[in-house]
Amino acid sequence: MGTPRTVAIDGPAGAGKSTIGALVAERLGYLFLDTGAMYRAVALAAMRRGIDPDDGPRLTQLAREIRVAIGPPTVRDGRAYTVLLDGADVTWAIRAPEIDRIVSQVARVPYVRDVLVEQQREMASRVRIVMVGRDIGSVVLPDAERKVFLTASAAERARRREEELAARGEKRSRSELLAEILRRDELDSTRAVAPLKAAPDAILVETDGLSVREALDRVLGVIERRSFAT
Ligand code: DC
Repeated sequence: MGTPRTVAIDGPAGAGKSTIGALVAERLGYLFLDTGAMYRAVALAAMRRGIDPDDGPRLTQLAREIRVAIGPPTVRDGRAYTVLLDGADVTWAIRAPEIDRIVSQVARVPYVRDVLVEQQREMASRVRIVMVGRDIGSVVLPDAERKVFLTASAAERARRREEELAARGEKRSRSELLAEILRRDELDSTRAVAPLKAAPDAILVETDGLSVREALDRVLGVIERRSFAT
């Protein structure tokens, strides 16, 4: 079988991609790249400069100007990686609810995607990597040796998000979070460029009712070619 150089994990918001992806990377000793964080960093830069998330030309200009870098954690505060925007640590700032609200709009601008996809491919060409996102198996790395499409029902994803926020001391109602997840699913799945969609050769892993450990085991099963099922 041989060990894969690249593992692509795609799926909708809240399916557990970041948690599982980081654990898979740790287990394999690969670099972990959460591409959603890159779109979030562009969205944060746009918000800080007062750029309308629907203003494609200004976002295009912005994507050319800023520098987004993702690397190993620099602070031990529960983060899986550190995100730098023009050298400043924005790891937690990109998780704010205001970013949740605008990031899908920013991510649908074709040139923003081009800039980030180029950086993602460049990283994958240098190191063994576990890359997570929406279009990794379908667009960014169509030749990835393993492709996983991680999903869970919207209700389950809203429940997890509520728990995750509560753990950080933020209280949000489940119904509000569910509405946000459905809105983001809709925007991410229907955009013209690189919509959220499983690559034809991706293996579906359904995580409803699974613990993190169980989901991790299934994904590792797919990567090690022990299993092919959901
Ligand atoms: O995974 P996330 O919630 O952090 O992603 C944030 C947004 O970025 C989400 O609305 C979809 C978008 N995204 C994308 O379009 N392509 C990717 N490869 C990763 C994320």
